[in-house]
Amino acid sequence: MKSWMRKLRALAVLSSFAIILAGCGEENLTALVPKGYGAQKSMDLIILTTTVMSFVFLVVITLLITVLIRFRKKKGEEVRNPKQVEGSVLLEIVWTSIPIILVIIMAVPTVMAEFNLADDSDAEDHMNINVTANQYWWHFEYEGEDLETSQDLYIPVGEKVYLNLIASDVLHSFWVPSLSGKLDANPENTNTFFIEAYEEGVYYGKCAELCGPSHSLMDFKIVVVSQDDFEQWKDEMKSFDPDQLELDSVAQEGRDLYEENSCMNCHAIGDNSTSIGPNLTNFGNRVNFAGYLDPTKEELVRWIVNPDKVKEGNKMKTSGYPDFENNVEEAEKIAEYLLQLKATSITPDNVGN
Ligand code: CUA
Repeated sequence: MKSWMRKLRALAVLSSFAIILAGCGEENLTALVPKGYGAQKSMDLIILTTTVMSFVFLVVITLLITVLIRFRKKKGEEVRNPKQVEGSVLLEIVWTSIPIILVIIMAVPTVMAEFNLADDSDAEDHMNINVTANQYWWHFEYEGEDLETSQDLYIPVGEKVYLNLIASDVLHSFWVPSLSGKLDANPENTNTFFIEAYEEGVYYGKCAELCGPSHSLMDFKIVVVSQDDFEQWKDEMKSFDPDQLELDSVAQEGRDLYEENSCMNCHAIGDNSTSIGPNLTNFGNRVNFAGYLDPTKEELVRWIVNPDKVKEGNKMKTSGYPDFENNVEEAEKIAEYLLQLKATSITPDNVGN
């Protein structure tokens, strides 16, 4: 083989490994380590279908190899035709019914699981959260509670939580692999399903429907906390008042600038109720922002100054957006303020401690 061809082949093998392995490593972003009801159901089906398929594979391969070895023409042996079996009713019945039985073994539990996961008949008896998918962020509204949040959804462990999904613009899909399968969020009608987490932790969620240039950055988190912590989180969120916050002088200036620049017209903090942009009440508690950036002052300034460059196609820079490019100092002060918005003592960092 020519050397360049060998190299090309090695490259192809390595890159396919890279693609496969790119999906590994995030313990809280995998359907293969189920931590919730829906994910466990999926895992059970994965095991069932893989077992059935492996059985079929083994039988076929064993027969094939046996035939290849046993019936191989030996040296000096005459060519002979095997016994012809076409038209054998018994054989036709056998090899038609075996696949049908196997398909039934897989189909019945799959269809049952589908109906089970889509069943919302007891939704009224449980917590309901209205989820709005936007390009490229998630908004969560706790039904019956005066409480909203964005990007990080807090829920109590071991409790069935119903999610009513809707989109404000284009089609998105809600997916937290560790907890459950996907469900589309579309602008036309509400899709409902439930999640139930078995363990406390922070589970990563993704938008699973191509929705624009920053689709891959449309991340969110589900923060699963104990029942007590959840109650405390709700109380602290509801009673949070940014004006009562002890801020350093830079952050205080940032708070004034936040108001002067009308940031709060789109971004709610505390009991302000707009949801044009993400709610920032517990911004300082987040482990990242804009879906993927580390919550450092440097990154946040970069984001505020030019959001389009950081997350293409987002709608933050609407008409009237302040010219921070020529006023980075103001962006720095606002960033300082936002990073000090630690509304609750329950944070993704101390979950389960
Ligand atoms: Cu929203 Cu992809």
